[in-house]
This record gives sequence, structure tokens and C-alpha cells, in this order.
Amino acid sequence: MVLGYNNLGDYLHNQEFYFGAVPGRYANRIAHGKFMLDGKSYQLPLNNGPNSLHGGTNGFATHNWSAKEIANGVEFTLVSPDGDQGYPGTLTAHVRYTLAGATVRMEYSATTDKPTVINLTNHAYFNLSGEGSPSILGEKLTLDADQYTPVDSTLIPTGQIAAVAGTPFDFTHATTIGDRIDAANDQLKFAGGYDHNFVVRGTPGTLRPAAKVYDPASGRVLSVATTEPGIQFYAGNFLDGSAKGPSGGPYVKRSGLCLETQHYPDSPNQANFPSTELKPGHTYHSVTTFTMGVEK
Ligand code: GLA
Repeated sequence: MVLGYNNLGDYLHNQEFYFGAVPGRYANRIAHGKFMLDGKSYQLPLNNGPNSLHGGTNGFATHNWSAKEIANGVEFTLVSPDGDQGYPGTLTAHVRYTLAGATVRMEYSATTDKPTVINLTNHAYFNLSGEGSPSILGEKLTLDADQYTPVDSTLIPTGQIAAVAGTPFDFTHATTIGDRIDAANDQLKFAGGYDHNFVVRGTPGTLRPAAKVYDPASGRVLSVATTEPGIQFYAGNFLDGSAKGPSGGPYVKRSGLCLETQHYPDSPNQANFPSTELKPGHTYHSVTTFTMGVEK
């Protein structure tokens, strides 16, 4: 049910799609790859039109993290040096994946030796009908979100926090993904479908429900919970058939979806968004769970 490659080399060399990766140091986009911190300006690589995406050209997804076995799981570690991709401070990041029953828990932590910005997520693509199945458009999505952050034509948030009610972004009740994905709507046009950050209901920092996907064909259910303030629903609009998975079938447009728990895109440049700054002496901490189930 998760899209991916069948060998490590493909993960390291085909960087366009971020299958199963942990994008960083800053997952999602930073406008013009620029931000200010403590009066100093920083420039990141522009690898997505005019913007920096997923930490830049050689972001965390391009690295083979070191791995250590822990109880019921594995802990991955990456040390990103001061100045890596233009970001200040040596950042030490850990992601612990543990399995309990049908729940995969991802626990992220990080420390820095200089003030920096951080936003980590998991970029797994799901297709509950099975990896290699042609489309996710028949799956039903529920998002625990009454608001989302509209974007400009380069997918940078405008700064507005808008209500989903009455728009194709209203997933407060289970809705078939394909029903409105091609609706006449500028937000959908900019992104070629859903590729937007939703504001998760409830208090950031507490683990709470964020999303649920139901596949009527199989009865399979994926439930996502997170401590993060937001979740990017990406409908796999940029998949173009060039990548192939273990089943051999090409991964075509909208044959997988991502639910990337995160801080909002471009937060370092948006004063009204929750802060993504990390200071020395503090620890970044974030938890997301993916739970599989069946409902008939
Ligand atoms: C994120 C972005 C998308 C796309 C994918 C990778 O989900 O929001 O626009 O770049 O990563 O293909």
C-alpha cells in the first residue's frame, strides 16, 4: 500500500518524488529560498521554480541516514553540518520508527548549535488498493481541518488562513478524492490538483487525529494522527509514470497520495504562522502515527 522502489540506489538517485523519504531541513517550500533569522539573511538552493523545496537540491531525502535497531523499530540519525544547503547551525536529527499493532509511530527530534529553522515530515505515498494500482481518485478522504492555507501560483502560502467550508477543500466529512479535484478553482489549478496545507483542528503539540483515508474497493483504512499544526494533502499530481515500483507498474499521475504532517509552508517568512525556529538548548520534537485498519 506504500509506493517505493525495490532497491536503495533508486531511493538515493531518483530524488524527484521523495518516496517514503524524510524531507528536511525544511520540508515543503520557502519563498525564493530566502529567510531572515536574528537580522541575518539566508539563501537556500532554488530547486522548485522560484522557490526552495524540501530542504534544497541536496536536502535530507538525498542522504542515507545511519540506522540503529531499537525496541520494535529503528532509529535513523542524520547530522547536517553548519551551512548545509544554506541553513545555519549544525543540526542533529533523529527519527524513530516503531511498530505497535497496526500503528507505525514516527517520532522526530533535533538539536542545533546555532539558531536555525526546521520542518520534518514523512513523504510516504499511499494507495490503499495496493502499490501499482492506477489511481487514488476513488478513495475517500477525511481531514480534521476546518481551514487551509491558500497559495499563489508557485504554491507559496498567501498568508491567509481560509475556511474550507463551501470549497473543494472541505474534507470535514469523508469525500471521494476524485469528486472535486478537477473543479474550476484557482487553487486547484495552481497545484494541478490537491497539494495544499490544511490546519489540523485542536492543539499543536498534542497527538490528535488529522486524516483518514478509506478505500471502498478493499475496505482498507489509513488513519493519521499528529502533534504538528498542519498536514499537506498531496494527490500525487506530479507522478508521471517515470518511476516504477516493486510491482513493476509505472507510478502514474495520482496513483499515490501523501499526507505530510508539518508546520505550514514558508513559515520562516510568515509572521502569523506557528514558528519553525529552533534555538540551541532546545529540542525539536514531533510525533506522527499511521494506523492501518479494515472497515467493511
Ligand atoms: C510535496 C510538494 C509537491 C511535490 C512533492 C514531490 O508534496 O508539495 O508539490 O513537490 O512534494 O513531488
